[in-house]
Amino acid sequence: MDRIVVLDFGSQYSHLICRRIREFSVYAELVPYDISLEELKKINPKGIVFSGGPSSVYNKDSPKPVDGIFEIGLPVLGICYGHQLIVNTFGGKVKSANKEYGSSLLNIDNNTDLLSNLGKSTKAWMSHGDAAEVLPKGFEVIGHTERSFAAAIANRQKMIYGIQFHPEVVHTENGIQVLKNFVLDICKAKQDWTLENFIETTVADISKIDGNVLCGISGGIDSTVAALLIQKAIGNRLKCVFVDNGLLRLDEEKEVENMFENNFGMNFTVINAKERFLTRLKKITDPEEKRKIIGEEFVKIFTEFAEKNGPFKWLAQGTLYPDVIESGVSKGPAAVIKTHHNVGGLPSWLNLQVLEPLRYLYKDEVRKVGKILGVPDHLLNRHPFPGPGLAVRVMGEVTPEKLQICKHASKIVEDELLSSGWYNKVWQAYAAVGDDRAVGVVGDERKYSHVVLVRVVDSIDAMTADWTRLPSEVLERISNRITNEVDGVAWVSYVISSKPPATIEPQ
Ligand code: XMP
Repeated sequence: MDRIVVLDFGSQYSHLICRRIREFSVYAELVPYDISLEELKKINPKGIVFSGGPSSVYNKDSPKPVDGIFEIGLPVLGICYGHQLIVNTFGGKVKSANKEYGSSLLNIDNNTDLLSNLGKSTKAWMSHGDAAEVLPKGFEVIGHTERSFAAAIANRQKMIYGIQFHPEVVHTENGIQVLKNFVLDICKAKQDWTLENFIETTVADISKIDGNVLCGISGGIDSTVAALLIQKAIGNRLKCVFVDNGLLRLDEEKEVENMFENNFGMNFTVINAKERFLTRLKKITDPEEKRKIIGEEFVKIFTEFAEKNGPFKWLAQGTLYPDVIESGVSKGPAAVIKTHHNVGGLPSWLNLQVLEPLRYLYKDEVRKVGKILGVPDHLLNRHPFPGPGLAVRVMGEVTPEKLQICKHASKIVEDELLSSGWYNKVWQAYAAVGDDRAVGVVGDERKYSHVVLVRVVDSIDAMTADWTRLPSEVLERISNRITNEVDGVAWVSYVISSKPPATIEPQ
């Protein structure tokens, strides 16, 4: 498989460069900016991209790639800070405080390679405080804007290119074309990264392992897709276990069991641990204490299962590419099969090694793999759900009564968003319940019943979120249905706090 490496100089868009390149079927991976030449040779890429970054090349501690990177004969494309690095490294000059933010018109001065197929000019997204002032020898200007005379530069002999703008963001009109020109025409990378290929090579890799694999299923997409890939490779040597902690969405445990046993034909065990969790959560009101207890109990149950049903050699995990990068585990090329000990809080005497079949994939790619492997759409598109489940949506003590309210009211919220076409437009949507009560009138009778909070939010990455401006008719239906259909609820309240300062979950 042909590869492009993206050296990460700290831009918030670094991952986006990889994703955009993968979109046209070339495998791209993000590596630390100071990756050694030896590591680079192991990856054997067809070309190198320098990402942007917050630094200025004149800062004392500004990040720089290792010496010799320009001498290995690979094409290089510098973006923003990467562009300035190139100018500086080859003896040109970078000027500070030549600010340019937002959309600029890029005029094309030479359309023969990097900027081919863009017409005479195109909109390009700028976000920089420094800019090239004097070009190094051997470089020519191939594009300029009003404020940057060298917004795109080339040294064709050395195959080194620099662009001041960000081709990876959607605001750059023909950004993908620029990346394609670099990756396909200049680096001559083959478009052989398809998810069908990924499935084939991953299954072939996993089929080489010996011993049994243990996989905890959460009902979410990552563990489901990981299990399907492993099953394809080793069949019944994969044993899946699903711990029903009683804190799942309405009927979720039945849906998961049905899908894994009947649709996928997996070696699948459901452990009904509802009572165990509820008993341990009795009288516990502190959110972090709840999380701790749920984590501990899960590990205990999982360990008991592994002891009884083992021996297992491997533990499957649904780790995704951004987690691998963020945890700093990946320094350069990453192997599908990595060995760790004492993982996920499990005792080290279980001697499990970790199998992470999704460690190369972004979330949208996991969805596509899931689709190819036959995972139903409603699971692929289901909103994220917190690990501790409804324990963080039931405020105060987790009681059977409050759990029932939370499950039924949340189901109504989901159903109403689905039928009004809002479900796929929002990040998360649920109902929460605490110990607040308010008066309702049922027939002639006054009842002091629960207050339910409905929370629907828009978000891109869960780091920030805003409450969704749902139409009042949808809110009205949600409220009517909850007070009519869910026992013990008198009031429904819609949460209009954004994150920050609020969080998405109430606890
Ligand atoms: P907050 O509430 O922190 O949530 O704004 C951000 C995102 O994280 C999810 N979340 C959790 N997920 N364990 C998880 O696996 C947790 O303890 C947990 N708490 C919050 C939440 O659903 C949202 O998507």
